[in-house]
Amino acid sequence: MFESLTRVPPDPILGVSAAFQKDSSDSKVDLGVGVYKDEAGKTPVPRAVRRAEQDLIAAQTTKAYLSPVGNPGFNAQVAALAFGADLAGRKADLSLAQAPGGSGALHLGAQFLNAARPGSIAYVSDPTWANHIPLLGAAGLKVEKYPYYDNATNGVAFDRMVSFLDALPADSVVVLHACCHNPTGQDLDVAQWQTIAEVLAKRRLLPFLDMAYQGLGEDLDRDAASIRLLAKTVPELLVAVSCSKNFGVYRERTGLLAVLSANAEQASIHVGQLGRIARTLWSMPPDHGAAVVDRVLATPELRQEWVAELTHMANRINSLRSLLAEKLTATTGQDFGWIKGQRGMFSRLPLRAEQVVALREQHHIYMAPDGRINIAGVSPANCAHVADSVAAVMRS
Ligand code: LMR
Repeated sequence: MFESLTRVPPDPILGVSAAFQKDSSDSKVDLGVGVYKDEAGKTPVPRAVRRAEQDLIAAQTTKAYLSPVGNPGFNAQVAALAFGADLAGRKADLSLAQAPGGSGALHLGAQFLNAARPGSIAYVSDPTWANHIPLLGAAGLKVEKYPYYDNATNGVAFDRMVSFLDALPADSVVVLHACCHNPTGQDLDVAQWQTIAEVLAKRRLLPFLDMAYQGLGEDLDRDAASIRLLAKTVPELLVAVSCSKNFGVYRERTGLLAVLSANAEQASIHVGQLGRIARTLWSMPPDHGAAVVDRVLATPELRQEWVAELTHMANRINSLRSLLAEKLTATTGQDFGWIKGQRGMFSRLPLRAEQVVALREQHHIYMAPDGRINIAGVSPANCAHVADSVAAVMRS
């Protein structure tokens, strides 16, 4: 029965972590999977999250089912983080469903789109998160790419992106990274978002925003500017939110899908559809991570502590960007200043696949096959080793 199944190659991102674990070198450096790391190279549970967990366990009297769309408190809090406290003035148009992580939210959103319009084509940025294409494809969408990153300038190929979107047929789905673009770290600025919003509205294209790093780029509000601007410009959109990185609850699988509908009547139908689809996928989302996030956001003292911790994470990543850019510029003799202007956990080094392999095999430095590095994995202690090694493989 199962003989037809073939061996699965290592996941381009998770496979890097598995290979890193096996390396016994003292000088190994993990720049692979997108998890935040502190000064000691650890991925901590934020203090505010730990405190909320302790309070929750002390107070929880039941683990009875909630509903297929999850915890209403969590949904409302995370929607307000994404859309702003006024929900972009469109509260009645919003349908919310808690989902198992950002990936669960993307999958739920893709199935919702496929239910609305079977065989829809979703356009993703070139490049995009390695899991976007298989994930959206598995949910039934056809996936194509739009131009995004310009390798020659390490910036956005904005004119090419706009001309491409401006030629798409109506009702095409356009997957956009709300902030902290994965894998390049190269975001659109506010003026560019405005232009994109106008093209999407004019062509009647459906934006599907993926926001996995809110607060790790600039700050909570500026990182969500894209969503707020689009919610004021286009009638309908989807947002998949992940709480994995900004709350440090990775393995708790905590996310939200928000569907903004054209009007309140439509929204009242769409929330039922989200519940129906969730019921066929996981019946109900896991509770713990969402209950903790709800508690952090709803308790002023915990919320303040979490915002301070998140700000520290973002500042640390941005200072590592400067350190790495300067060191790479010095060791390679090429200008790496562009790393400083990028945001979030990632940048992509201009390396060929064999150079990435050489970094791993000869220098014990691990990164995704396309040269994507997790900036949070760099530290003052390993930065010189990283920069020297990158320079060595670039010369070879
Ligand atoms: C990443 O891009 O490294 C993270 O989003 C983790 C993952 O699941 O790929």
